[in-house]
Amino acid sequence: MKKLDNFYSVAPMMGKTDSFFCYLLNLINQQTIVYTEMMHAETIIRTDILKNYKTLHNINNIAIQIAGSDPARLALAAKKAAETDFYEINLNCGCPSKRVVSGSFGINLLLDPKLVRRCAEEIANKTNKKISVKTRIGVDEHTSENILDNFLFEANNADVKKFIIHARIAIRGKLNTKDNLNIPPLDYERVFKLKKKFKNNIIIINGGFKHTNYNAKIKNKIDGIMIGREAYKNPWIFSSDLKYENIEGRKQIIFSYVSFLKRNFQKCLFNKNALLHIQNLFNGYDGAKNWRKLVAQTIKNKNLNDLLNFIDCDRLKLI
Ligand SMILES: Cc1cc2nc3c(=O)[nH]c(=O)nc-3n(C[C@H](O)[C@H](O)[C@H](O)COP(=O)(O)O)c2cc1C
Repeated sequence: MKKLDNFYSVAPMMGKTDSFFCYLLNLINQQTIVYTEMMHAETIIRTDILKNYKTLHNINNIAIQIAGSDPARLALAAKKAAETDFYEINLNCGCPSKRVVSGSFGINLLLDPKLVRRCAEEIANKTNKKISVKTRIGVDEHTSENILDNFLFEANNADVKKFIIHARIAIRGKLNTKDNLNIPPLDYERVFKLKKKFKNNIIIINGGFKHTNYNAKIKNKIDGIMIGREAYKNPWIFSSDLKYENIEGRKQIIFSYVSFLKRNFQKCLFNKNALLHIQNLFNGYDGAKNWRKLVAQTIKNKNLNDLLNFIDCDRLKLI
């Protein structure tokens, strides 16, 4: 498989980085790794949740994020996922949501590095995919450097080489998940320090990044930057080709995307989220308001031809 060399990647986001968004991102940039929304191992094993990804032939910049804490079940899920062409398998060790914490996975795993090691070992036994882990710099009062250092040390024993670190402490119980994406403050220095200690690992920093033009001052300190909310709001920041920086190029991409949806919805169920992904993508251009209205209307009437005609008829222009 081709090695992807983009310094930037797209964060896993529940309800956002589904198969459709991954496809859209691939149209914008084939070198950027996009992480799927978290999928629990049991859901992967027992349901057809990967079905939509299977239709994305020849797309290999998608990494799947799996959640869970039972090594054997994670390995089974990873084996099933490996049959679909995912670039990498990522283990969620950072989610602080109530449901996840009560299920003893996500951020709880930061405090159980030996279990994470076993999970990674089992996954590695069942697949030959690269394994990465996403976590945070600490959890609740467990904020000493030893915690994260020890976590990396154990995971390294299972040959995990890549770590994605959300530079913010997770708070269980006292904050809701959304608030915990903004508070407490980010601590980038902690992640830079981690990179200095674990020189042989690939350390990706995450939290609060907004564009893809960071300078050497930060690029020299880290192996990559993962972008979440801004990537969803404005995926154009990943366009690798100048032609997609202008309205005509962007229209071309959205036309391809809607055409893909049209084909897809003939075989699979109509999916509202797939349209929400593109509702705001022409903001700033003349015609954006009508575009947004038309997307809302399409969600109701399910007729994608109106969107294709709108793009074709040049009703979107530079202001
Ligand atoms: C809507 C939403 C859903 C998220 N879902 C997940 C998820 O499924 N798995 C995960 O590891 N992180 C999840 N996150 C956290 C992001 O991956 C990322 O760590 C966080 O948003 C910080 O990056 P940002 O400041 O660039 O947005 C989610 C974040 C948002 C906003």
